[in-house]
Amino acid sequence: MTSRPDPRSLLQDLDLDKQQLLDLLTLAAQLKRDKQHGDELPRLRGKNIVLVFEKNSTRTRCSFEVAAYDQGGQVTYLGPEWSHLGREESVADTARVLGRMFDCIALRGHAQDTLEQFAEHAGVPVWNALTDVWHPTQSLADVLTMTEHHGGDVEDIAFCFTGDGHSNIARSLLVTGALLGMDVRVAAPAGLQPPPDVVAAAEAAARSSGARLMVTDDLYPAVRGADFVYTDVWVSMGEPDDAWAARVRSLLPYRVTDDVPNASNRFGVRFMHCLPAIHNRGTVIGASLHQQFGLDGAEVAEEVFESKRSIVFGQAENRMHTIKALLVRALAE
Ligand code: CP
Repeated sequence: MTSRPDPRSLLQDLDLDKQQLLDLLTLAAQLKRDKQHGDELPRLRGKNIVLVFEKNSTRTRCSFEVAAYDQGGQVTYLGPEWSHLGREESVADTARVLGRMFDCIALRGHAQDTLEQFAEHAGVPVWNALTDVWHPTQSLADVLTMTEHHGGDVEDIAFCFTGDGHSNIARSLLVTGALLGMDVRVAAPAGLQPPPDVVAAAEAAARSSGARLMVTDDLYPAVRGADFVYTDVWVSMGEPDDAWAARVRSLLPYRVTDDVPNASNRFGVRFMHCLPAIHNRGTVIGASLHQQFGLDGAEVAEEVFESKRSIVFGQAENRMHTIKALLVRALAE
């Protein structure tokens, strides 16, 4: 038996309209202030949340856990290989079982289809904690971070994503920025731009929000006037290691060195990255890229990542405040 997804679910950025996004951002900012001032009220007492993660995570898992515990809720984490999901038990059956025990489900899945099956069968809210095509809790945190640093109206903010424009976060930022009426630029090589259906959805949203959208392979015009320069890893989790050679070849011109934010000509331009980032040789992947391609860092140079322009750790913190807002909005009585 199937049912309609719970309306409180968040499967992709397009599930929210502009007012819902603004309300969530306002709630997240309030919850952040409450926590900083020690004024937080526990609105999730008695609520049980399950995290079903088919892929590893640092920020997203910890954000759900700390957010829920701060609010008095309880969390169960099912990591990769920790449940019967998809092997001994179908996605639909797992969703029906978990929906009988928990008040909501956050899923990090290999495929969007798994998430959609969960939402169809669980009978409780289901949230996208990252899939191959969307990362909506990340884009929500990113817009909160931009508003904190920009200070003006969200519609006045201009940002430029450079790199793998086909990635989940590039799609989520394009669509969320379009819904909110922002100035969104995506600079990516022809083979790695957001898919046509995502661009069409963003353009449709922009027609009512007034957003200004640019998808191009020409980085420097795209970055001119941007308040924020954003990038992400060139090969995402779940993609094969042998994808690196082609990605290095096509994405090296989109790497964020000092020249990129300098080209914005904005005095307060900031650098953003959803993390984890490859900004030096200090990780297994960073060392391997140095050995194979002579790179010291990949999508972003150390000089930018560690500069005063970099706001990446504020972004990471805001994952927790914005996920808390999602939980409170859906579950608080
Ligand atoms: N940005 C992000 O989703 O980080 P994690 O993979 O650590 O959750």
